[in-house]
Amino acid sequence: MVNWTRDFFICLSNSKFLNKSAQKWGFRFGAEKFVAGTDIGSVTRTIKEMNARGISCTVDNLGEFVSEKTEAESAKRQILNMLDKIREEKLDCHVSVKLTQLGLDISREFCIQNMLEILARAEHYGIFINVDMEDYAHFQATIDVLKILLQNYGNVGTVIQAYLRCAEDVMDELKDIRLRIVKGAYKESEAVAFQTKAEIDRNYLKLAKKRLLGDAYTSIATHDHNIIRALEDFIRENNISHEKFEFQMLYGFRQEMQYELAEKYHFTTYMPFGNDWFGYYMRRLAERPQNINLIVKDVFYT
Ligand code: FDA
Repeated sequence: MVNWTRDFFICLSNSKFLNKSAQKWGFRFGAEKFVAGTDIGSVTRTIKEMNARGISCTVDNLGEFVSEKTEAESAKRQILNMLDKIREEKLDCHVSVKLTQLGLDISREFCIQNMLEILARAEHYGIFINVDMEDYAHFQATIDVLKILLQNYGNVGTVIQAYLRCAEDVMDELKDIRLRIVKGAYKESEAVAFQTKAEIDRNYLKLAKKRLLGDAYTSIATHDHNIIRALEDFIRENNISHEKFEFQMLYGFRQEMQYELAEKYHFTTYMPFGNDWFGYYMRRLAERPQNINLIVKDVFYT
């Protein structure tokens, strides 16, 4: 059942037609529980609320797999405006971006130019930019672009997906930069990715522990209480400095646990906003079919 629903929602998340249509619908099917606002004004209010509770944020202007230059340029402008807002309002917040939103599928050079503009402004303001990791079809291109960006800027990092068989090698190659460790949200083939939860969890723990023993900053991004508790024990037993890591979770997930972790460690909530919510929300439903009741409520009770 879980695999069936996972495949179904991942398939919906990839539909260009539905992603485009959903931009005109406004939030539907309970998406507002996981998307922090439609525009910069509304997401800023939510960030301020989280900051007041001692929680830092990473903001994501929703959108991916863009095929028109004008769309990528408009996404870039929105990200630049968000950077201005973070600076203006002194928000405790950095920015997560997806390279396919900034034109990676149009041309690598065009995407790099957009990223250089974003990184220049972010560096000027002292803001970190995280390059989110997308599906495996974009994996190598993302790493290649990141390496070019790293030649010019130090305020950029990326994500390691523990389901990928090559995760440890790539993580080691990027050992000096800030990284976020996640399990991985896309459907990938057996050839490139572990398929079972047990294998993915085992690799996640291995990667996170290795990072925690190294020097660079690590974001431990998961809602999995078993992994979190195991890593808390590891941190205590190995006397790992709290300045070297943080926990991260997605907006709308396990709120009480977010507050609990924020009392003890640096903590960041991933805050998506914007009208392009469909693909992101379908991936969240794929991970947690229990959330389907949000759709049922939306369809039958509103
Ligand atoms: P998983 O979904 O396996 O859950 C483990 C267990 O935790 C469940 O069995 C359940 O017991 C419990 N649990 C989980 N959610 C719960 C809930 N809401 N309530 C109660 N119990 C719950 N992916 C990617 O490919 N590229 C990226 O760039 C990112 N970025 C990213 C940033 C951040 C901050 C996070 C948290 C995640 C991502 N991801 C991601 C998504 C990631 O790859 C993964 O798909 C999700 O985090 C789901 O996996 P979990 O680690 O939460 O465990």
